[in-house]
Amino acid sequence: MRNPHRFLILLIADLSFLRVVSLCTIYDPQFDLSIKNRTSITNSDFTDSSVLTVNLSHNLISNLSSGIFSNVIRVQTLDLSHNWITELSGDLLSLFIRLVCLKISNNRLEKLPETFLENKVSLEQLDLSHNNLGSIPDKFFHSNLWNLRVVDLSWNNLVTYQPWPLLLRRSVDFDLSYNKISTTANNLGQTEFTNFYGSEITVNLQFNNFTQWNDSFYENLFGVDENVAEKLIYLIPDLRNNNWTCDCNLYNRASAMHNSFYLYAKTDNLKFKCYNPPHLRDKRVFYDVALNEFVCNLTSDQNCLIQDNPYMHLVYVDCRSRGLTTMPKSLPLPDGRKLSLNFYGNSIRSLDNVEYADKIDSLNLSNNALQFIDGNALRKMNNIIKELDLRKNSLKYLPKEINVLPFEKTHVEDNPLSCDCNMTWMADWVNLAPGYRDKSVQCTEVNGDRHLIKELTERLLNCTNDILIAVSVSLGVLLVIIIIVVITAKRCPYESKVILFKIFRIHPRDKYVVDNIYHDMDNDAYISYDASDIHVQQWTREVLVRKLEGKKPSFKLFVPERNKGVGSEADLRAEAMEKSKRIIILLSAHYPKQEWCQFECNVAESMSENQGRVLYILYDSKAVRLSKQEPWQSRMNDRRVLSPDDKLFWSKLRYELPLKSKVQFQNV
Ligand SMILES: *[C@@H]1O[C@H](CO)[C@@H](O)[C@H](O)[C@H]1NC(C)=O
Ligand SMILES: *[C@@H]1O[C@H](CO)[C@@H](O)[C@H](O)[C@H]1NC(C)=O
Ligand SMILES: *[C@@H]1O[C@H](CO)[C@@H](O)[C@H](O)[C@H]1NC(C)=O
Ligand SMILES: *[C@@H]1O[C@H](CO)[C@@H](O)[C@H](O)[C@H]1NC(C)=O
Ligand SMILES: *[C@@H]1O[C@H](CO)[C@@H](O)[C@H](O)[C@H]1NC(C)=O
Ligand SMILES: *[C@@H]1O[C@H](CO)[C@@H](O)[C@H](O)[C@H]1NC(C)=O
Ligand SMILES: *[C@@H]1O[C@H](CO)[C@@H](O)[C@H](O)[C@H]1NC(C)=O
Ligand SMILES: *[C@@H]1O[C@H](CO)[C@@H](O)[C@H](O)[C@H]1NC(C)=O
Ligand SMILES: *[C@@H]1O[C@H](CO)[C@@H](O)[C@H](O)[C@H]1NC(C)=O
Repeated sequence: MRNPHRFLILLIADLSFLRVVSLCTIYDPQFDLSIKNRTSITNSDFTDSSVLTVNLSHNLISNLSSGIFSNVIRVQTLDLSHNWITELSGDLLSLFIRLVCLKISNNRLEKLPETFLENKVSLEQLDLSHNNLGSIPDKFFHSNLWNLRVVDLSWNNLVTYQPWPLLLRRSVDFDLSYNKISTTANNLGQTEFTNFYGSEITVNLQFNNFTQWNDSFYENLFGVDENVAEKLIYLIPDLRNNNWTCDCNLYNRASAMHNSFYLYAKTDNLKFKCYNPPHLRDKRVFYDVALNEFVCNLTSDQNCLIQDNPYMHLVYVDCRSRGLTTMPKSLPLPDGRKLSLNFYGNSIRSLDNVEYADKIDSLNLSNNALQFIDGNALRKMNNIIKELDLRKNSLKYLPKEINVLPFEKTHVEDNPLSCDCNMTWMADWVNLAPGYRDKSVQCTEVNGDRHLIKELTERLLNCTNDILIAVSVSLGVLLVIIIIVVITAKRCPYESKVILFKIFRIHPRDKYVVDNIYHDMDNDAYISYDASDIHVQQWTREVLVRKLEGKKPSFKLFVPERNKGVGSEADLRAEAMEKSKRIIILLSAHYPKQEWCQFECNVAESMSENQGRVLYILYDSKAVRLSKQEPWQSRMNDRRVLSPDDKLFWSKLRYELPLKSKVQFQNV
């Protein structure tokens, strides 16, 4: 907006003075040939070439040839009114450069030549009223008509209003009343209009054929993307005395107006009135009609009243007592609207999953013959619907999906509801509603007993079969678990055993011979590892030993670097190995090159009863590679080989170590 608001208000305040001034002056000398019953005029009628006023009105002239005024080119006022002229030639006035006033009213003109006013830069008043003009040529009005102040086009047959006044860029009175105008358009090749400060444009569109407002009226005039409110400044046309229909088409306009300061502009132009519908007749559109009264009847058939209410964003469907047996399959629904449906007093038997179910704001089905409710319809209504009235129907059962609607939004009273075991969920549904809601809804048992639904329990109804169901469900679940376990055990027998051991402490293997023969062994396991590799050493000390000794059941380990004794180191180690139930060989990259390792490996190989006694841990990926080469490959043959990356590594390791439990004590 370029213009400050204060200025606009002043400007609009001014619009109330509709100027009906005549600028036609009688300049002397004049040539008056009015009221002479003349049917034609010729060149020779003009004897005085100095005349400034020519009055040919009230004759019977029907034709004027082009060169007829060539003797009187100084004319400033020309009156051709009250004749029979049907046609004007384009160059009739081409010599009248100083023409100020032109009257051709009360003739029989049906059209105008496009170039008729081409160079009329002095023209101040143009009267074309009381003719039969159906349209104005696109270039007839143009921006060089600097001085034009009063244009009278009333009492013609114009059907479209175009922004002619804005082309003139000056204050101007445009009278377009008593035409047949019902719409707007713009073929003028211009949609950008500049408003000069102080210019006042009045456009009289009273007594035309406007009935229905169209939001595109302003778009037609100014093009899209234009600020309608700003354009109103140039132009608040006088739209009174048209037979306006106050319906949904006027809603946007009225709503914008209610929010605009123009509402208080001191102009009568905004006080146009409704003609239809009858109950709004003579109410002022912007001042007396509430926004939710701008509604449209969407259909007249179906004998239902279907009304679009843009203010409420709703389409009201009133089908009360219309003898319906089903809900309508489809309903008209403009964008962004929801449905408020009243089907009270029909014979509808089922609440169906209709295509508009997810657009329903409220649904009144009371006093029908409902026996069945489609749960899918309720699911679709979820979130949106605010009220569902199902009173006075024949419902025995409600689908559980009705749970998606809170009880306080739902009315189910006056139905022959059955107290069935599968209806006990309704008690919770009712009880969850807030306290103000009447919860006295009842149901009837087969034996005729009546109960409050909110007090319904399985015990009250003796629903025993539920326990049966619960048992069979649990059995079913158990069966599934067993099947899964069996399948797993078949596929991964070793892992299954390890898991079984981990969880239930059941050791399903045959114990290794070594555990049965020697009971006087000092150590549970001897750890053979590459002590020169700092990483291996750390892992052995901080991880392996800690885990096995620190966590229950804890094992007694022999770690050579730790458990030193007196005497030859080789003897010590060999003896310790002999007294260990397991030898864990921690294979790492440089293990094969270490002397002690070679020694321990050889001892281990040669020990008796070493079935299950020697096991390998592959420390890293290099160890894995080693394990695929000789001699390791054959050494590991038939032995348990673990790797810290294995799933269940620690469980597997513990599984392989001697049993630490009562069993052992018994053996001792
Ligand atoms: C014009 O014609 C009418 C009717 O024929 C007549 O009464 C009237 O006197 C005529 N006027 C002139 C100026 O001839
Ligand atoms: C022309 O003559 C008629 C009849 O005498 C008169 O009413 C009218 O005002 C005159 N026109 C002008 C422009 O003077
Ligand atoms: C009007 O006059 C012009 C030239 O004098 C002529 O060509 C035309 O046919 C006339 N029209 C009528 C309807 O008389
Ligand atoms: C409005 O309607 C009435 C009755 O139908 C009619 O007489 C009147 O001319 C109409 N007014 C306009 C401006 O169309
Ligand atoms: C004027 O409007 C009425 C009702 O809208 C319509 O029937 C009639 O045809 C219109 N007249 C013209 C000339 O457009
Ligand atoms: C409004 O005008 C547009 C085009 O100008 C037209 O497509 C539309 O149907 C009109 N709306 C009404 C309700 O007449
Ligand atoms: C809509 O239809 C109803 C009933 O047919 C009628 O009473 C009402 O006036 C109509 N409303 C409009 C805006 O046409
Ligand atoms: C349903 O419609 C009937 C009849 O119009 C009305 O009495 C009742 O109050 C309506 N139900 C609701 C919940 O508004
Ligand atoms: C409840 O059981 C009855 C039969 O006893 C059946 O007709 C009805 O459909 C069931 N209702 C629901 C919601 O399952």
